[in-house]
Amino acid sequence: MISAAVAAIAVVLVAIQSSSGEATAGSATADTAGAPHNGGHSLGGAAGPAGSSGKTEAGPQIVTDVDRTFLVKVRQAGLWEIPAGRLAQTHAQSEAVKRAGLHLIDGHSKLDQLVREDAKILGVEIPNEATPEQQGFVKQMENARGAEFDRLFANLLRASHGKIFATIGEVRAATQNDLIRRHARQANQTVLDHLEVLEDTGLVDQATFEEVEAAVKPK
Ligand SMILES: [Fe+2]
Repeated sequence: MISAAVAAIAVVLVAIQSSSGEATAGSATADTAGAPHNGGHSLGGAAGPAGSSGKTEAGPQIVTDVDRTFLVKVRQAGLWEIPAGRLAQTHAQSEAVKRAGLHLIDGHSKLDQLVREDAKILGVEIPNEATPEQQGFVKQMENARGAEFDRLFANLLRASHGKIFATIGEVRAATQNDLIRRHARQANQTVLDHLEVLEDTGLVDQATFEEVEAAVKPK
C-alpha cells in the first residue's frame, strides 16, 4: 500500500516537472521565434540602433510643416465630408451616391478620431472648421436635390479626393516621422476607397478629371 502511494506521488511529481518544463521551453521558443520576425520589419530595425532614447514612435521625432499641414488637411476633410455624406442620405437620388456618402461618413469618422489622437501626441494644432471653400461646397449641396445633388456631390468630392491623394503620396514618401507614416497609410486607404465609390457613381465629368490632372501635374 505504502509503496503504491509513493509511486503515485512520484508519478504526480514527474507530471508537474514535465508540464512546467514544457511551458518554459514553449515560451522560450516563442520569444526566440518572435525576435528575428520583428527584426525583419522596419519598426524593429529602427528601434535597434536608436537604443534607449528612440524606442517609442512618438518620442522626440521631428514634425515638419508638411507633416503639420497634412494633419490639418485630414481634419478638414472630415469636417466637410461627413456632412456631405449625411446630405447624400437625404438629398440624393442615386443609390450609388447614397452608398458613397455612407463610405465618407464611415471612413472620416475613423480617420477623424485618429487625426485628433495623432495631433495631440505630436502637439499639432488642428482646426474645428472646414476651409471657406469646403464650407461653400457643403452649402451648394444643401441647396441641391435629386439629380443635381448627385452630380455636384460626385464631382466636388472626386476633384477634392484626387488632389489630396497626390498630397498623401508626397507626405508618405518624405516624412521621417513614424506616426505620420502610419497616418498617411490610413489616409491613403480611406481616400482610395472614396475615389472608387465616387467613380462607381458614373457621374464624374471629364472636366473634373482634367481639373485634377492640372492640379497634380508635376511642376
Ligand atoms: Fe474622403
